[in-house]
Amino acid sequence: MNLLVTGGAGFIGSAFVRMILAETDWRVVNLDKLTYAGNLENLTGAEAFPGRYRFVHGDILDDAAVDALVEEEGPDAIVHFAAESHVDRSILSPEPVIQTNFRGTFVLLEAARRRGVGRFVHVSTDEVYGSLAPPLAATEEFALNPSSPYSASKAASDLLARSYFVTFKLPVVITRASNNYGPYQFPEKLIPLMIANALEDRKLPVYGDGLQVRDWLYVDDHCRGIRAVLEKGRVGEIYNIGGNRSLPNLEVVERVLEATGKPRSLIEYVKDRPGHDRRYALSSEKLERETGWSPRVDFETGLKRTIDWYRSHGEWVSRVRSGAYRSYYDRNYGGRAVVPG
Ligand code: NAD
Ligand code: DAU
Repeated sequence: MNLLVTGGAGFIGSAFVRMILAETDWRVVNLDKLTYAGNLENLTGAEAFPGRYRFVHGDILDDAAVDALVEEEGPDAIVHFAAESHVDRSILSPEPVIQTNFRGTFVLLEAARRRGVGRFVHVSTDEVYGSLAPPLAATEEFALNPSSPYSASKAASDLLARSYFVTFKLPVVITRASNNYGPYQFPEKLIPLMIANALEDRKLPVYGDGLQVRDWLYVDDHCRGIRAVLEKGRVGEIYNIGGNRSLPNLEVVERVLEATGKPRSLIEYVKDRPGHDRRYALSSEKLERETGWSPRVDFETGLKRTIDWYRSHGEWVSRVRSGAYRSYYDRNYGGRAVVPG
């Protein structure tokens, strides 16, 4: 199999590339723009697979370059991870999600259609279903109800990808996963941000009352789910990939504090995220039934592994938190603390 992966220098894409190189004899071409979230350090070790791995520095918005790459490589499949992936950034400036997540997906679908690519796995998110009251858990038939510019851009790109299957018979398969965590995640998302701040004795900013619920999925389980869909998923179908582990944010933060041996006083309540979805919940029954996939890493094991990784990768954390990260942090969190009482 010859795979074209987009966004393979990011958190989940790099875990997927590492997994495919280690567990198969497939060739992987990784197209990535190396935005603030893309990092070639996440792929150290890929050079150990000469002839099977090629990195291409490029933008999925560059129609001509994407088309030329797909023609040159003739991939059997495209696995499309590349995205602007952070909700808070999409609230601070919505334009990049519209460009990369929506138009970028269009550019790839067009190239795949023109060059007759045999499978297009579009990596999407449970956020497209919006907030769900308990005890609901979204199946693939649930209506799309996105709340943020990020989730709206993902919902729009899901619909576009599906239209390429219906209209042009492009063999598209869509995955929708819940919240991922694990090594190499950029410390802007809840778990790595809380770990990195706790390890440096900084405040842990909790949005609103902290009782929003997310379903946590260890990144390697997500990657195994994507591989199952790539190999066994039916074209034109959507597959949810969830961790079956729902937790309120505050409990996640408390577990990080406990595991790092830091005091509860580091928690700082801050003004809530605008349009904040209260609860996500996902049923992965379809994926389990059709492919035999199920999550293997329980939250306790996954969190311990993740904290150990951040502890032993202090230099990685310092490098990604320098420069532009600090201005993002000030813009997102500055003046947001809620004074108690
Ligand atoms: P990430 O932000 O860590 O990585 C995104 C990668 O895409 C980076 O390497 C970046 O350089 C690259 N990229 C961004 N814009 C690009 C462009 N225009 N051209 C080429 N490359 C570009 O993201 P992630 O958390 O690894 O998420 C990967 C995918 O999985 C996204 O599509 C996201 O919507 C989806 N997803 C994420 C989660 C999660 O919890 N993180 C859950 C479900 C689905
Ligand atoms: O559900 C899948 C989605 O999960 C993915 O599609 C997105 O790419 C990914 O970013 C993630 O979105 P969330 O908005 O759920 O993740 P985030 O880590 O930003 O926030 C998780 C929860 O924690 C959410 O309720 C907001 C809260 N939070 C987050 C941050 C960064 C805080 O309370 N404080 C924070 O500083």
